[in-house]
Formats: sequence, C-alpha cells, structure tokens
Amino acid sequence: MKIKVPASTSNLGPGFDTLGLALDRYLELSVEVVDTKNSPEIIVKGNGVEHIAADKTNLVYQGMVAVAKHAGTELPSLRLSLNNGIPSCGGLGGSGAAISGGVFLANEILDVKLSREEMLNIAVGLEGHPDNVSAALMGGLTINCFDNGSVRCRSVKIAAPLSVVACSPRFQVLTKEARKILPKEVLMKDAVRNIENVASLVASLIQGDVDALRYATSDTLHEQYRASLIPGFDDVKKAALDAGALSFNISGAGPTVFCFAVSNEKEIGSAMVKAFAAHGREASCEMMRVENEGARAITK
Ligand code: HSE
Repeated sequence: MKIKVPASTSNLGPGFDTLGLALDRYLELSVEVVDTKNSPEIIVKGNGVEHIAADKTNLVYQGMVAVAKHAGTELPSLRLSLNNGIPSCGGLGGSGAAISGGVFLANEILDVKLSREEMLNIAVGLEGHPDNVSAALMGGLTINCFDNGSVRCRSVKIAAPLSVVACSPRFQVLTKEARKILPKEVLMKDAVRNIENVASLVASLIQGDVDALRYATSDTLHEQYRASLIPGFDDVKKAALDAGALSFNISGAGPTVFCFAVSNEKEIGSAMVKAFAAHGREASCEMMRVENEGARAITK
C-alpha cells in the first residue's frame, strides 16, 4: 500500500503548540509485507536522506510500532519505502509527517480501525505536541486543545487563495534547544495579547480576511527568544514585508521562516534568500499552498 502525508507549518505566530497548517509538499510511504529476517527493511529517498534513520529508530517505523502496541499485536516483517518531498531544513513538519504516516499506515495494514482523532493521540504521544501531527493527519488548519490529557482537534478547510512562502537557511536548530530557551512563565499582558491574536487569526483564515494577517500573526510568547537562533532574523523579516508579504513568522521551531502572501511570491522569496545571504547564510525558498486533506492512501 502507498500513502502520502502533507508537510505543515505550525504555531503560525501566536498559536504556539496549538495551530497547524497542512501544506502541499508530501512524504510518500509504501509498505510491503515481506519474508525477511531483517525486518524492517527501510529504503529512503528524497530530501534529507542523510538525516533519516533506516533502522528501527526511523520515525515512520516508530509510529507503526506505537499502533501495533496500542492494538496489542505485532507488526509483520515488512519493507518500508520513504520518498521525502518535504524540505528537510527544519520547521516544515517532517518529523510530524513521518510519525503520522507510520500511524496511518499501521492502522491500515493491521486493520485497527482507529479514528483520525485516535491516530492523532497516538502520534502526539511520540511527537510531544499536536500541531504538526494534527495537520499531517487531518489537513487544513488544525486547532488543538487538551481535554483530560487527550488531544481534541478541529480541522477547518481554508478556501482563501493564500500562498505560504517559506525560506529555509541551511543550518539546523534542534526543536529541543528551541524549546529549552523559552521562559517558564510569561506576563499576563503577553498571554492576553496572544489570545487576542490567535482568535483573530483563526477567524481571519476561515473568513479569508487576509489583511488581518498583518496584525493577527504577531506573537509575544516564543518568537522573540527563538529569533536569536536565526542570524539575520530582523533583516529577513523586513525584506519579506517590504517585498509585499502579509506576515512573517518562524515556521514551527525554525530555522525555516515563512510568510503568507497573495501576490509577489517570487519577489518575497528572493528578498528573504538575499537577506540571509547578507548574513552569510545560504537559504532556499519554497512557494506552497494550503493542503486541505490529511494523510491518505494513493494505492491499496
Ligand atoms: N510547536 C512546536 C514548537 C513545533 O514550536 O516547539 C515544533 O515542532
């Protein structure tokens, strides 16, 4: 069986650990049950192959194992092929897509009949936060909250003709490090500001009120700390906004940054790449659209 799982951006500025947005770049996975003593056989192609494990620590495989455990069964001997079309520079939901893809695949081949929300909860157990895994499984804009330890997710389809212009500088920021530098406590006024913005942001994305993205994407909880991990952050932001971007945020934990735009996408991408270059950082950009569908089978 073969499936595809979308990339995603998360946080979207004020929605730290809460909002995800699926994007039209994909991790493709196929699995065959084979007679081998070396299960899992894992073949990796596409972006970032050098960073993708081809043994039992592989995140797709870990997702599959988690479903087998949940169902009280074991995986058969298998050959797993990954073709990664998700830019691997960090911040576009590569690990979330891998975990979610593994969960989705195992649910199919073991015929466990989990709902998407049950799959999501298993994936969150591995990823630690729901934003990217929810977008990978549900598609669209995902809005997550915890209820007695379980994730509840709403996914809404986004009809606005928005482009997501992402720019990835060529260095790594480990999510663990990018989480460690955040303060343990925040000021009430900053928390209130984020609540205001995230509520406005969700409404504006649903209503297609793209002008509101100019203010509703601002964040007071994490980006000011994480910007220090991205050389040239302020100049790249200015370059993007001057070139016509509606917004500018860190994608997930970075180092990828992204803008919403409805025009000038090429100019915005080039402006960001140039601004990173002025800080001695090579970068590449991707122009993407929202993907309103989550993980799905391509062939049985
Ligand atoms: N919400 C997460 C964070 C996304 O910002 O740390 C990274 O995977």
